[in-house]
Amino acid sequence: MSGLLAGKRLLVTGVITDASIAFSVAKLAQENGAQVVLTGYGRLSLVERIAKRLPEAAPVIELDVTNPEHLAGLPDKVREHVDGLDGVVHSIGFAPQSCLGGGFLDAPWEDVATALHVSTYSYKSLAVAALPLMSPGGAVVGLTFDATQAWPVYDWMGVAKAGLESTSRYLALHLGKQGIRSNLVAAGPLRTMAARSIPGFEQFENAWSGRAPLGWDLADQEPAARACLALLSDWFPATTGEIVHVDGGYHAIGA
Ligand SMILES: NC(=O)c1ccc[n+]([C@@H]2O[C@H](COP(=O)([O-])OP(=O)(O)OC[C@H]3O[C@@H](n4cnc5c(N)ncnc54)[C@H](O)[C@@H]3O)[C@@H](O)[C@H]2O)c1
Repeated sequence: MSGLLAGKRLLVTGVITDASIAFSVAKLAQENGAQVVLTGYGRLSLVERIAKRLPEAAPVIELDVTNPEHLAGLPDKVREHVDGLDGVVHSIGFAPQSCLGGGFLDAPWEDVATALHVSTYSYKSLAVAALPLMSPGGAVVGLTFDATQAWPVYDWMGVAKAGLESTSRYLALHLGKQGIRSNLVAAGPLRTMAARSIPGFEQFENAWSGRAPLGWDLADQEPAARACLALLSDWFPATTGEIVHVDGGYHAIGA
């Protein structure tokens, strides 16, 4: 078998449509020699249908990343398909509507707590759940939206991403002893289901097109997916706690 991820066994969360960043990751990973197991949340039959559009139909395991029973049962479910994991992809985010679109000052704690549970704490939960299947050289990769500044309309999701970025550094700290890396890809705006749920998301779209020195294609998930593959591969063996920007260079340029 050949390819960047030849022989690697991956668990990929977050496929809901074929526009999902996770779908691009799973597709490219298979094209590069990996064996892929997907997890699905909510509409499982939909995820199973999308999984059949991959180069090789991938098995789908049900996983609500906030459900302790799902997390505890994950290793056994994964073992039905592969005998271990070399990489785990966290491509999960959710915030109730009150947390997005400008209502920052009014969002109630219960809604903020949901956003943080699904989008931030879950990165640790998923990594810990998968840990019994992993060995030195393994990698965990997640997706962030640059949280070093406040964005219009992103609101509590921005706070959740800031927490995710910190969580990744702490995972790097605590999993380093076991030879497992944790890194994030900071993607520019992409037209996915999660993005469509953010009122005013077009503000990002307009800003990016104008400023990113390399330009930015809002409908091309592949650059972000490629970076995920690189971080899952053996080509970043000494990199952990890192955030790789895949945003056309936007983050580096002043207004
Ligand atoms: N689209 C963008 O502009 C963009 C930019 C940067 C980072 N990201 C991040 O990329 C990741 C993937 O999002 P996407 O844009 O591909 O959108 P998407 O809607 O395709 O994927 C989001 C996924 O989160 C899953 N999810 C939600 N709640 C869950 C739960 N409780 N348990 C398990 N899974 C759950 C959904 O089922 C869905 O598959 C997210 O972390 C998102 O914040 C997106």
